[in-house]
Amino acid sequence: MVTAKFITFEGGEGSGKSTQAERLAARFASSGMSAVVSREPGGTPLGEKIRALILDRRPQAAETELLLFAAARAEHLAALIVPELASGRWVICDRFIDSTRVYQGKLAGISHALIETLEQLTVTRMPDLTLVLDLPPEIGLERAKARGGQNRFDEAALPYHQALRAGFHDIAAREPKRCVVIDGARPADAVEADVWTAVSIRLLGLLPDRTS
Ligand code: TYD
Repeated sequence: MVTAKFITFEGGEGSGKSTQAERLAARFASSGMSAVVSREPGGTPLGEKIRALILDRRPQAAETELLLFAAARAEHLAALIVPELASGRWVICDRFIDSTRVYQGKLAGISHALIETLEQLTVTRMPDLTLVLDLPPEIGLERAKARGGQNRFDEAALPYHQALRAGFHDIAAREPKRCVVIDGARPADAVEADVWTAVSIRLLGLLPDRTS
């Protein structure tokens, strides 16, 4: 029996993270393992309130936003992630600290020192595996538009989304043990197969089954 692990999905807008998080949970279920899907910001009643605050109305200071994301994350770890893992359920999370590093660190210009200090104070558990769903921002934005219900993050200009993509690439290159970059521009089935291969090899100690 493998100990329950913490998996995060990261990537730009329209990269298919939420779809893949649900599909991965279904794979776990059909393999007889229990998994919970969560998201950031959010995941707890308080976190969902913070999410609504952040996404509806942009704080004036990037620091305000950073602290709100960090507060939601501290609560998420304490109330959901750590207890679920302790009870033997895998946790699959749509976005986590890498989003803060890229959106607030690289794009909103908050210093690395401040981001790192907050991580040290609030991140009690790092992901065991981070799946970066990578795709050209043009495709991601088209998908996000087709999906409707845009938030203010979706409305930013293309260079912003290109910088975002580069930010996730940089993290994956710096932390290759934790991160795997997956081509998210392909159909969902192909992406799902790669996600399961990464999980099988890195966390389950299995060789990939090329037939599924
Ligand atoms: P959401 O609608 O969930 O976007 P997506 O479907 O692309 O994940 O909105 C979450 C937004 O919050 C997203 O644009 C990224 C942003 N975000 C940050 O800026 N910092 C963070 O730490 C997190 C978790 C999210």
